[in-house]
Amino acid sequence: MLGVGAYGSVYKAYDQVSRQMRAIKCIRTTGLDDPKRAFQGHEAKLHALVSGHPNIATLHEVVEEDDFFYMIMDCGLEGDLFSKITERGGYVGKDIAIKSIFSQIAGAVMHCHSKGVFHRDLKPENIIMFGDMVKLVDFGLATTEPISSDFGCGSTFYLSPECQGGYVERVTSFDSAANDVWSLGVILINLVFGRNPWKQACTRDETFSAFVLNNDFLQSILPMSDELNEIIKSVFCLNPRKRLSLAEFARRVQGCSSFTVPAGSLSTTPSSSSSPASSPRTPATAGTAGGAAGTESTTSPTPIRFHYGHEVLICNSRDNNAQSQGQDSGVCVELHSMA
Ligand SMILES: Nc1ncnc2c1ncn2[C@@H]1O[C@H](COP(=O)(O)OP(=O)(O)O)[C@@H](O)[C@H]1O
Ligand SMILES: [Mg+2]
Repeated sequence: MLGVGAYGSVYKAYDQVSRQMRAIKCIRTTGLDDPKRAFQGHEAKLHALVSGHPNIATLHEVVEEDDFFYMIMDCGLEGDLFSKITERGGYVGKDIAIKSIFSQIAGAVMHCHSKGVFHRDLKPENIIMFGDMVKLVDFGLATTEPISSDFGCGSTFYLSPECQGGYVERVTSFDSAANDVWSLGVILINLVFGRNPWKQACTRDETFSAFVLNNDFLQSILPMSDELNEIIKSVFCLNPRKRLSLAEFARRVQGCSSFTVPAGSLSTTPSSSSSPASSPRTPATAGTAGGAAGTESTTSPTPIRFHYGHEVLICNSRDNNAQSQGQDSGVCVELHSMA
């Protein structure tokens, strides 16, 4: 088995005709009513529309049986980007590799947008490793609507504020392309720091609220270069109309001379910080038309260590419940010199 998702399991299988390994996403349709069955067909239809790009898993075949629906696609045997970031060293400190991975992901998403498909669930779990290449999968939440009102559709860490109903003022709909750009911003932070910037981009999130009050907040808690800070501020822009376009975002990332600065140059030792990307995998929610998202995320209490030159950044996440008890919540970041 390659993975288990919200709606089914993904298995690997050998195709005797092509003599290739294939991934088969199996979705049980027993007991599903007609609209829900149509929903599975929708995923396959949108995946087929964008299939053929080098950074999107090719969908080779779709098989519908009485009790199951199968999508047969390219198979990645090295796991997904989430495992790569959290279990296999990740990309911290590897700017060239980050540029390569990010430009592949951005290229895949640009291709989707050019075909009128908006993914809506961009996250490392849906990006599969193929050596130095990555391929996008999981079009289960994708849409062809350029303007959407499916609030809460996606996974908590990656949700844009407008997709949760708006941060400053309530919105009745939002731009699907700009919403994907926001998720790519979170993925870039995952790649560069092995962490999430916040648990959820909403008012009750302490780290996100601190960022809204002071757009340089992430740079004060992470060893982020000025160049990356400027890019990130233009991506995590609350107004989707003023947010960087995907093409400009990709261009700026490629042109960035350094994503990080030595950890010792952080000006302050903050009391709260971002969430480790090693938090549990985030289940996607299909969202509710006309309502705001309400799912609470959880973080792992396990400290994670990232090495920056001679220094090590130790990140301790605390119990998520502290927030509701009115205590100091969030994550402590301490810098310890290895020298
Ligand atoms: N083509 C593939 N090759 C290798 N692993 C895959 C492939 N597609 C999916 N997976 C793995 O299976 C997991 C679940 O698949 P996904 O399509 O994302 O299902 P869901 O819609 O339920 O999230 C992914 O997070 C990934 O780890
Ligand atoms: Mg998925």
